[in-house]
Amino acid sequence: MFGRIDHIGVAVEDLDAGIELYAKSFQMELAHRETVEEQGVEAVLLDVGEGHVELLAPLGPDTPVGKYLARKGPGLHHVAYAVDDIDATLEGLAAAGIELIDSEARVGIRDSRVAFLHPRSTGGVLTEIVEPAEGGH
Ligand code: CO
Repeated sequence: MFGRIDHIGVAVEDLDAGIELYAKSFQMELAHRETVEEQGVEAVLLDVGEGHVELLAPLGPDTPVGKYLARKGPGLHHVAYAVDDIDATLEGLAAAGIELIDSEARVGIRDSRVAFLHPRSTGGVLTEIVEPAEGGH
């Protein structure tokens, strides 16, 4: 069902401090930076092998990541698996009894299509599935 791990999402208070750590200290290449209004975040992608680290800074305290930071502080936020067909995958997951946060795919970073699965039904791990945009990776 899942092709590979596409990225891990890390919640940060300060995007530039996060970039300092991952791009400078860990020497990952900064591949992309974007404000994703629909998710209430400013995000960057850094390359690590075929996957990415996605740093997420909230646009405000009332956004999902803003609330997460207030509750848990910065750290590991979610894991994202790549899929070929997100609509079919969502249908399969729902049929398997997985609780979906997004019953339909929405726009993610770099024009991908994404959906989140509820940690209540995934052993406590906020899980994202992502169908990369055509030509994306
Ligand atoms: Co993500």
